[in-house]
Amino acid sequence: MKLAIGADHGGFALKKIIIGFAAGMGHEMIDCGAYRLEPGDDYPDFAGAVARAVQSGQAERGILICGSGVGAGVAANKFEGIRAAVCHDVFSARQGVEDDDMNVLCLGERIIGAGAAMEAVRAFLGTGFSGAERHLRRLNKVRAMEKEFFKQ
Ligand code: RB5
Repeated sequence: MKLAIGADHGGFALKKIIIGFAAGMGHEMIDCGAYRLEPGDDYPDFAGAVARAVQSGQAERGILICGSGVGAGVAANKFEGIRAAVCHDVFSARQGVEDDDMNVLCLGERIIGAGAAMEAVRAFLGTGFSGAERHLRRLNKVRAMEKEFFKQ
């Protein structure tokens, strides 16, 4: 799968680990930065880059890492078609895709260790949207909200 990944200074070290991990699983990684550790950088810049890559179809899914995962997720969800969430456990990372069609996984380097992060990534990448009628109905309600409230 083609994956866009981005991180601010708070997620910089974990990004390197996750790139190696996902590439080792055969995924093609598009690194949206940060390309060097810069304590003054801002998570919306990297969230925007990853969200645009997914939105445009350049990447099928995205991974965002900041200190908590929260800021990056909040910013990514400002983009139409992006469904980003912080998942620090395997259950949420898998079910977020299967039920909610989550397309951006957010991680907090200051919260979880590399091992748990890699397992969350494995779960996120190892499944797809179920397409079950009830989940499609809910997804379509989310899409209707985007249509109503997002400005183009
Ligand atoms: C940056 O210090 C930190 O606030 C950021 O990485 C992230 O945790 C925000 O949610």
